[in-house]
Order: sequence, then structure tokens, then C-alpha cells
Amino acid sequence: MAQTQRKILVTSALPYANGPIHLGHMLEHIQTDIWVRFQKMRGHLCTAVCADDAHGTAIMIKAEQQGITSEELIDGVRKEHMADFNDFLIGYDNYYSTHSDENREISTSIYKALRDNGKISVRSIVQAYDPEKEMFLADRFIKGTCPKCKAEDQYGDNCEVCSATYTPMEMINPRSVYSGATPIEKDSEHYFFKLPDFQDFLAEWTRSGTLQDQVANKLSEWLDSGLKEWDISRDAPYFGFEIPDAPGKYFYVWLDAPIGYMASFKNLCDRTEGLEFDDYWAKDSDAELYHFIGKDIINFHALFWPAMLDCAGYRTPTGVNAHGYVTVDGEKMSKSRGTFIKARTYLKHLDPQYLRYYYAAKLNSRVDDIDLNLGDFLQRVNSDVVGKVVNIASRTASFINKKFDGQLATDVSEADMIQSFIDAGEVIAEHFESREYGKAIREIMRLADVANEYIAVQAPWVLAKDEATLPKVQDVCTVALNLFSILATYLKPVMPNLVTDAEAFLGKELTWDNRSELLFGNTVNKFKPLMGRIEQKQIDDMIEEGKAEAAVEAAAKEATQPAQAVTELSKEPIEAEINFDDFAKVDLRIALIVKAEHVEKANKLLKLTLDIGGETRTVFSGIKSAYKPEDLEGKYTVMVANLAPRKMKFGLSEGMVLAAGPGGEEIYLLEPHAGAKPGQRVM
Ligand code: MSP
Ligand code: ZN
Repeated sequence: MAQTQRKILVTSALPYANGPIHLGHMLEHIQTDIWVRFQKMRGHLCTAVCADDAHGTAIMIKAEQQGITSEELIDGVRKEHMADFNDFLIGYDNYYSTHSDENREISTSIYKALRDNGKISVRSIVQAYDPEKEMFLADRFIKGTCPKCKAEDQYGDNCEVCSATYTPMEMINPRSVYSGATPIEKDSEHYFFKLPDFQDFLAEWTRSGTLQDQVANKLSEWLDSGLKEWDISRDAPYFGFEIPDAPGKYFYVWLDAPIGYMASFKNLCDRTEGLEFDDYWAKDSDAELYHFIGKDIINFHALFWPAMLDCAGYRTPTGVNAHGYVTVDGEKMSKSRGTFIKARTYLKHLDPQYLRYYYAAKLNSRVDDIDLNLGDFLQRVNSDVVGKVVNIASRTASFINKKFDGQLATDVSEADMIQSFIDAGEVIAEHFESREYGKAIREIMRLADVANEYIAVQAPWVLAKDEATLPKVQDVCTVALNLFSILATYLKPVMPNLVTDAEAFLGKELTWDNRSELLFGNTVNKFKPLMGRIEQKQIDDMIEEGKAEAAVEAAAKEATQPAQAVTELSKEPIEAEINFDDFAKVDLRIALIVKAEHVEKANKLLKLTLDIGGETRTVFSGIKSAYKPEDLEGKYTVMVANLAPRKMKFGLSEGMVLAAGPGGEEIYLLEPHAGAKPGQRVM
């Protein structure tokens, strides 16, 4: 058993600091956490770090929309992310931010090393520029009409309808999504990392066993078709680090993001006795370094990142472990279906260990997508965890508690069976090590079946009825509880809290190595139920809440930025279809505009008093740019009558009126034909 202690550093991709953690992200953090807990349990020195990815245009714009600084935004989001991970039992040794002094320092020094090694080139490029907002626009911040098929509202780089690719300037009527202004062309100097210089290095590195075969094969294709220089600078205004010798130029978020792994670790080293940065990052380091990432960010981790590290004199990763994407019930997570489930929403309804178990059962070492099938989730967790594993203890513990005062037998039959459970730990460990969690779980459940069958055949509840067979009861239950303790050991990386409770009951801290130290003659504590079943209602409630959240978000968007929200909506491609029941939930009513007033200090809002058939509603609507209040009074329109009331700066808004159009003067309230009466339901 004695093996040398490995030094291992593990990371998960750094979540963007502009949105909540959802169950897609959680796949990665659960995958990482199980691996890390497994390594720690095996006695290795394994350190896991992560951080929020805090830089970039999206975060800057979001903060601006909320009327707060970027720093305020990322601080708040980081607290939420940390709480989410904590409550999902994800135990990072450090959860930091890329917007940190350490990261600024290391990013700057790595950049200087690249530059001094002649790997940075500077040249002018022409880009779309928003003259109103005074900033350069990435392609996805421009929308317009496809020059080829004339489809409207397409992004600035390609058409979702006909798949044509183009530059924003080739579009018909391109507009900035920020201001609606027509972008102009403007040039500016950009800094490039000379990736093509690393062609040979990368061709070898990507084939050196650091990557999954699927990934290495994909990268070969890219390598064969030739690498391009990588644009690592962005112009002000930008939330990030300024490039040292280039005022007004900032590191592109993806330059300092992976360096954030180093910075988070550095921050931990600086306050941890015996943990040395150089031991892990120096070129001759004998520590192992693994990055867990999603398949969408492979090029950053398997091309740019090793090239940068190597060039700047650091070691490269031991392994880049990519996983696939989470789908829910076979489809992309969707806000309108309520399947874009936030970590926090899940936690309000369900134990995090259910999801940890389910993801573990489905994970393998490949890059395949993982489907969270909600029916299967319920069925599998209930039948495996509750019905098989927990059941071993709950069927036998009470006899030991009641008939033997908690005392286990000192000597038992079935030594072979117990030994086979101990031996299985070798292959289960191999499965965890190679990220074949699904195989590990299947083996554990196979053993659980063996244990349950043993209990069923022995039937201690029958033996307990007869004084003469009482000793046999103690024997059988002692065997069962030893089997249980071995299985709990194997499940500890996956369901840490359940196993902590099991440890409290067994009176033993379970480690991989001590699984062979059997509980003979020990006294166990009173057994408390370890885990309950998932009820269908918990899942239904979670999905309902997901839908409600999405509706509130949409309404909030409308309330904070009314005119723009109208524009945004019209540009949105029609999302996945909803079924009739979803539609029927929206209570649309004919409303008479009794009163329309200006709202003091509001730029876009009008206050409407609506009569919906004997009931009066107040609605704040962002239609001021298109309507004079006096022209609206006495008119009919259509409102959503069952939208949750929303507290706004100017008062409570009790619904929403329906309008169409791109915004500005072009907003058109819907108006029913003559004859419709206030309060009538629109169908
Ligand atoms: N900030 C970058 C990563 C920088 S790492 C130096 C980023 N952030 S992200 O928030 O968009 O994604 C973080 C991780 O979550 C990525 O590994 C991504 O693949 C993963 N996932 C995001 N959505 C996912 C699913 N629906 N399913 C599985 N993983 C998903 O990319
Ligand atoms: Zn097109």
C-alpha cells in the first residue's frame, strides 16, 4: 500500500464573474472536486484552486447597466459563486479573482518574457467602432441584416439562417447593440502573440499524452491547417490590466485568465506554510498539474497556454482534462423551459449530493456531452443511493442498536465476501484516478447488490424473532455494516456529507487505506436515516422556480431599460418552442388606458393606469420615446395581467403592456379591434 506522496495541483476553469453558476458549470466543479477528494483521501498532497474570471467587455457593460463599478459587480458575484460552491460541497483550497495584484504581477511578467523573447508583434488592424459609445465592437456586439440571404437581426460575423460568414461592415444596416449607432471602421494598433512560432513545440506537446485522444485528434487538424497569431490586446475602455509598455491597451481577458490559476495558487502559497509556488510551476517541477475544462475552451488551454508557459520559462500542464456539455432532458439548457437551472435554485429544493452522485454515475474520461435526464436522475439516485447503499445500513443497524447495545460481533463468517469488497478498492481507485467515475459507481453498485442479496437471504428480521438465532443476527449485521463501511469509503469523494454521517454512526474516519481495518467488537452509535428519497415534487418545484426566475429576469430587463429591451427582444431569434400549457399560463387581458402620466426623473417610462374590467392596475412602461401621454388616454391595449408585481424606483409595476418595434420613436403599442372590452381575456 505504501506509495510515495504525489504533489498535485488541480484547477477548474474560472467562471465568468457576470452571471450565476448553473448546473452546466457544476458538472465541471463536481468532476474536479471528486477527483481532488479522492486524491486527498489517498494521502496525496493535492491542492485545488479556482477563481472568478473578472475581466472583459461583458463585465464592464453589465456593471455600467447596473449603475455600479466593475469592481463592485465582481465582488458581489464572487461572493455568490463562493457560496454556491461551498453549498455544493466543492472544497477549493483557494477561490480567488483574476482581478488581483498577484495576477497583475504574473501576467505582466509573463507578457514581458514573451516580448523579450521576440514573440510579440504589433500591427494596426481595422475594426468596427461605435462612434456614440466610443468603443471598438467585437463582432457579436453588432447586429444587422445578412448580406446574402437578407435575414434580419444576425450577428456581425455569421448568419444563423444561411450560415454565410462576413465582416460586420459587409452587413446591411449594421448596428451596435449598445447604442443602436451604425458602426464605422477605425484602425488601432494591436498586440499579437506569435503562436505560429510554436508549431513544432505544440505538435509534439499535444501528442505527449497530456490530452485525451479525442482532443489530440481535433488539435492535429488545427495544427495541420496552420496556426495564426493571437490578438492579445484590447483598446480602452476595457476592464482588465493595462499592457505595461502600451498605454490605453489592455490584455485581452483570455491572456490573464489562465494566469489566474497561477495567481490563485500564489495567493494560497503566500499564506500556507510549506506550500511553495516554484515547486509547482518551475520548469523542472516534479509536481503534477491538471486543468479540468469544458470542451469549448480547449484551444486556450492546449495551444495558447502551453506555448505561453513554455516561452516564459514555466512548466506545462501534466494533463488537460476536457469534459462535454450538460444537456437537460436531451436538450440545451433553456430559460423558457426552466431547465437553465442555477446552482442556487437547485439548492433550494434538493440535496447537492444527489447531483454529485448522478453526474459521477454518468461521467467518463471522454469529451462526451452529459444528459441530466430529470426522470432518470430521480429514479437512479433513489434506487442506487437510498435503495441500495443506505439500505444496507438501515436494514441492519437497528438490530445492533437494539439487541446488542450497539456492539458489533468480534468474529464473523463471510471473510471472503468482506475481502472481495476490500480488494475491489484497487480497481475502483483506478477508475477514479482515470476519471472513469461511471465505472467506479457501477462497480460500487454491483457490490451493493451483493450485500443486499446477502442480507435478504440471511433475513436478520426473521432470525431476530428467535432467541436461539440471536447470535447469528449479530454476525449477519456485523458483516453487513462492515460491507457498508467499505462502500461508504468508496463513495466518500462523491457524497462527502453522507459519509461524514456514516462515519459518525460507525465511529470511524474512513480513508482508502484503512478500509481493511474491520469493525469487529466495536460499538456503533445510534443510527439516524442517512438520506431520503427524491420526491417528484421537489424537481417540479425547481423547474417551476427556474421558469419564474426567467420571467422575472425578462421583466426586469424591460423595467430597467425599457426602450432598449423592446429592441433587444425584436432581435432575439425565436427561442425553442413552448407548449400550449406554457402559453396558457400567460394571462393576457384587454386594458383601457384610463390615465397616462410622465414620471418625474424617468427618461423612458410613462406611468399608465389601466382598467381591466373593474380592476385597476398601475404599469410603468418604457414607451415615452414614442408616445405623448395625452394621446394614450382612452385607448385600448393588451397587458400581461399575471406577471409578478415588480418594485421599481418609481413605484410598483403591476404588469406589462405589449408593444413591438425597434425602439425610439418606433414603438407600437398593440391595440385590439373596436368592440373588445376591458378585462376580456386574449386568446
Ligand atoms: N472564463 C472562461 C474560462 C477561463 S479559464 C482560464 C469561461 N467561463 S464560463 O463561465 O463560460 O465557463 C466556465 C466553465 O464552465 C468552462 O469550462 C465551460 O466549458 C463550463 N461550462 C459552461 N456551461 C456548461 C455546460 N452547459 N455544460 C458543461 N460545462 C459548461 O469559459
Ligand atoms: Zn444569411
